[in-house]
Amino acid sequence: MECKERVAMKESELEEIAKRRGFFWQSAQIHGAMSGFYDYAHLGTLLKRKWENLWRKFFLGLDDNFYEIETCSIMPENVFKASGHLISFVDPIVKCKKCRNSERADHIIEKELKENFEGLSPKDLMKLIKKHNIKCPKCGGSLEEVGELNMMFPLDVGTGAEARKAYLLPETAQGAYMNFKLEFEALRRKLPFGLAIVGKAFRNEISPRNVLIRMREFNQAELQIFFDHAKINEHPKFNSIAKYKLRVFPVKNKKNNKIEEIACGDAVRRLKLPKFYVYYMAMVQKFYLDILKLPREKFRFRELSKEEKAFYNKYHFDMELNLESLGGFKEVAGLHYRTSHDLDGHQEVSGTSMVINVEGKSLTPHVLEVSMGVDRNVYALLELAFAKEKDRTVLRFPRLVSPFDAGVFPLVNKDKLPGKAREIQKLLEENGFNVFYDESGSIGRRYRRVDEIGVAAGITIDYDSLKKEDVTLRDRDSMKQIRIKIKDLPEVLKKFLNGEKLGKLGKVIKG
Ligand code: GAP
Repeated sequence: MECKERVAMKESELEEIAKRRGFFWQSAQIHGAMSGFYDYAHLGTLLKRKWENLWRKFFLGLDDNFYEIETCSIMPENVFKASGHLISFVDPIVKCKKCRNSERADHIIEKELKENFEGLSPKDLMKLIKKHNIKCPKCGGSLEEVGELNMMFPLDVGTGAEARKAYLLPETAQGAYMNFKLEFEALRRKLPFGLAIVGKAFRNEISPRNVLIRMREFNQAELQIFFDHAKINEHPKFNSIAKYKLRVFPVKNKKNNKIEEIACGDAVRRLKLPKFYVYYMAMVQKFYLDILKLPREKFRFRELSKEEKAFYNKYHFDMELNLESLGGFKEVAGLHYRTSHDLDGHQEVSGTSMVINVEGKSLTPHVLEVSMGVDRNVYALLELAFAKEKDRTVLRFPRLVSPFDAGVFPLVNKDKLPGKAREIQKLLEENGFNVFYDESGSIGRRYRRVDEIGVAAGITIDYDSLKKEDVTLRDRDSMKQIRIKIKDLPEVLKKFLNGEKLGKLGKVIKG
């Protein structure tokens, strides 16, 4: 049955569905929730973990010399003096003279002029406010001069004379830089060398908004690749992707809004990007298109202008997904060439040398950073998965990130079928699948229930299963089924989750 219907979803609808079905909701609601804080509920936690594990498997698998670490979330002030965050990690803030409401200046202007002004200086933003006579969106009052607010959360660690000024990490990256030298020495002393962190970041956003898109406590999956700057124009595997086409939205296309399909080889020449950088652009796009299997047209790299680039970046493209609920392409990740900005800063402020010796050469490595916002990706998965069909609503998650791999259902709740179904649940769990067991209500209702929460496959145990040791496997998206031997189930389910077509796994028995 191919009557699927993609529906444009509003942000508020998405939030409502997420809450009703158990994906996420605002934190500490009974005490009056604070904006920008969300808890993951039972399904959201599963979805988020699946995404994170796929991220780990893919990005750590790119090089034998990439490793994951876990670091602290609170670090002393000097870390941020060194990284530049104390001075440069600021957002433009504007206050209303009348009601004292404060908001991000660029956001207020964006709302009025329907254009993105991120990265403009407070002076330029003020000029726009005056030119277009922009007022407070809450009360219509006049606005004060645009100022700047540092986005880090400060705190004091310890008490009395022992107390030290510290901050919550605004990006996991600094954890990796703090560990770089120690890890390099504990490991193989080879470059390129990667440190990945999947963890929390904290920012005192002036205007948290769009549910999981702009939060104050959020999750990042970041990989810092330390490499020899002299080798930036090469990558040993570049030839394998030279013809691979990237979807790119260069700065120069801002006016005509055109996304270009550019082969990696051409991206090096036309966009004047180093091969090392372009290689990782290809890997990032493959993660979205081949691993997560998101529609190609939903993805693009957006080149950031000089004004928009983060203060530490030399090359900076954001990875964006087209999200109808948010009115178009939105940033979910970034690929940042940070040069030796951070290691130089830490060396200068701490007095600890960041110079290493590799194959007889002394150097401070440069850093290429793959930085992804986990929550923004979770939001995008939820939006892109939602479909309303004639007889059902369904969350068509990419199979590998579906909160549950399979639902296990005895056709009826009697005659030894539940016992057999429990055996199959055990078999699947022992083989590493996460399984949802349900024996209540009609089988049709149970299928609808799991479709609504996006369970990838339905395994049904019927009377024939008792005689023939086989079951049906139902594909959530096509609702078609195949019959397979129980002994083959783990292998078949694995192939199914990895994207194999149902017809290739068995004879389709039902439309
Ligand atoms: N280490 C580099 C860095 O943090 P960033 O562009 O500031 O760069 C990286 O953040 C990613 O983290 C973004 O692409 C976005 O997905 C996510 N992110 C940033 N701020 C966020 C926020 N307030 N709420 C949710 N996700 C956020």
